[in-house]
Amino acid sequence: MIASGLGLGADAAAGAAAYGRSVAAAIRTEALAKYFGDVAALRPLDLEVGEGEVLGYLGPNGAGKTTTIRCLLGLIRASAGRAEIFGVDAQARPAEAHRRLAFVPGEANLWPGLTGGETLHLLGRIQGRIDGDYQAELIERFKLDPSKRVRAYSKGNRQKVLLIAALSSRADLLILDEPTTGLDPLMEQAFRDSVGEARRRGQAVFLSSHILSEVEALSDRVAILRAGELIEVGTLAQMRHLSALSVDATFDTTPPDLSRIPGVTAVEVEDKHVRCRVIGSVEPLLGVLAASGVHQLLSREPSLEELFLAHYGREPETRPPAVR
Ligand SMILES: Nc1ncnc2c1ncn2[C@@H]1O[C@H](COP(=O)(O)OP(=O)(O)OP(=O)(O)O)[C@@H](O)[C@H]1O
Ligand SMILES: [Mg+2]
Repeated sequence: MIASGLGLGADAAAGAAAYGRSVAAAIRTEALAKYFGDVAALRPLDLEVGEGEVLGYLGPNGAGKTTTIRCLLGLIRASAGRAEIFGVDAQARPAEAHRRLAFVPGEANLWPGLTGGETLHLLGRIQGRIDGDYQAELIERFKLDPSKRVRAYSKGNRQKVLLIAALSSRADLLILDEPTTGLDPLMEQAFRDSVGEARRRGQAVFLSSHILSEVEALSDRVAILRAGELIEVGTLAQMRHLSALSVDATFDTTPPDLSRIPGVTAVEVEDKHVRCRVIGSVEPLLGVLAASGVHQLLSREPSLEELFLAHYGREPETRPPAVR
């Protein structure tokens, strides 16, 4: 019995090494959905995070970010669909799914009587592996005093303990739910450096965040969630391509009429100065500007904040969920 059990384990491990581990996405969801009564916290979601990819997961309060994460961790039962972590069904086999991930929740609930150092030791035991040298480096970088008791830590310091524990596990996948809440700007930079290091080491990161500059700086792709629904996913470059470019032009004389040029909207004229937005090709606009004695030209891609606001400017959907 024991021998055959070991044999199966070895075969499974060899199979994973040969196939699963090299091809399975870090995260894959298929029509993953969660309803709390009538509330569609997460509408059927299809999402993939590749190995070594940093995905920024954005959405306003109540959009369903934490619900997604709790489904991915097997902490709540999904109403429908499937969630996989490196090919393992996270809902049916959460213990196995957790082997290659580390998680940082938005709220740090820790043992108040333990010191920071004891807490890191305990979290490391739970996680199963820890890179001690890297942990020491992180304690230094995040300026954490590990000799203090958790009850004496500020909110930001409690958050640092969880971040250091997750980062020093060197897990193949980091799932972070608004991890920088409570961190000051210096520590926010330490966090960014650490995620950059994780990415360079080939770790995947699922980063739920409200902080647009953080997502912009760290993510390979961005997913935008609204009222439980994924409304956009792609690289920032792809998203910007779909959005308007802002153009400011100053002329030597009265500006030409730009309002009839294809793709040009929101034209505002002020003396010799014109401001407008352009979607799609800028060539027609540039042709007119060049022929009209433009004196100074400034163009700017939309920031993630502008993209985000453009998405949330619309009314959220109120239709009832299709799946229960
Ligand atoms: N246990 C629960 N029971 C009932 N409704 C819930 C429960 N958990 C979450 N919800 C609802 O599901 C929706 C999504 O909540 P969720 O916590 O996933 O949002 P979030 O994007 O993480 O928001 P925040 O940015 O505030 O953390 C909200 O409408 C919330 O009220
Ligand atoms: Mg949340």
